[in-house]
Amino acid sequence: MVLLDGKKVSNDIKNEIAEEVKKMKANGEKVPHLAAIIVGNDGASLTYVASKVRACERVGFDSTMVRLSNTTSEVELLDKIHELNNNPDIDGFIIQLPLPKQIDTQKVLLAVNPDKDVDGFHPMNFGRMALDMSTFIPATPFGILELLDRYGVDTQGKHTVVIGRSHIVGRPMSILMGRKGFPGNSTVTLTHSHTKNITQITSQADIIISALGVPNFLKAEMVKDDVVIIDVGITRVPDDSTEKGYRITGDVDFENVSKKASFITPVPGGVGPMTIAMLLKNTLLARERQMK
Ligand code: GUN
Repeated sequence: MVLLDGKKVSNDIKNEIAEEVKKMKANGEKVPHLAAIIVGNDGASLTYVASKVRACERVGFDSTMVRLSNTTSEVELLDKIHELNNNPDIDGFIIQLPLPKQIDTQKVLLAVNPDKDVDGFHPMNFGRMALDMSTFIPATPFGILELLDRYGVDTQGKHTVVIGRSHIVGRPMSILMGRKGFPGNSTVTLTHSHTKNITQITSQADIIISALGVPNFLKAEMVKDDVVIIDVGITRVPDDSTEKGYRITGDVDFENVSKKASFITPVPGGVGPMTIAMLLKNTLLARERQMK
């Protein structure tokens, strides 16, 4: 079994990006600038955004965090988005999801200038992804592709089963794994809450990408020998023995499934750090595109 070490690979990618930034600085060019909007006080979202800002500092990007209160109206958020769209110093920005109930997420994502949409959530960029055109690929799916690529995991002609059809992970992943090229050329099955006999499907999978958010959902009896496992789950499970009072748990029963797997991502230290590295990569791309 080979551990798909997202912590190590994401560090390699950050070092590569830091080198690019050094060159930009040496040439007197402006460095990439990422902004992140966060609405409300959700603990997990605040942690993720803080990690994104720290990662910017680490590679030499400029970063701006915009904190808005939980009672922010849709109009106020849209105003902030227009401001960032029109600020030439900002190369890319994200709006951390989920948003409070009073705000229509689709309306908000549509308001982002597609050239600054480093999350790749705007329908224009999502459509371009589905049509194999150059775009911003959403960071988590992009990170999974990069992990598969850097470990040389064979995807061609393989049966990939995606669990969960979220707009952020499952849906784009199902499109990307079926695209022409590498990593891709898979035969893809997208499973979700209405799927019947999921074990029958997962037990035929060569590659399983689980983005469900149910701790220890995928058990050893549900997979075949030599399966490749990508665990996107990051659920906080209460645990008094830890300092924070919780631990991060994936969708996969790692202890038992790893005994059958050929490749597997750990949680934490697998997909999570890759997401941040690929957001930086998209921001670098955004800067390069602004220069053209
Ligand atoms: N919430 C969970 N994952 C993500 C992500 O990749 N981007 C944003 N903006 N919000 C998220």
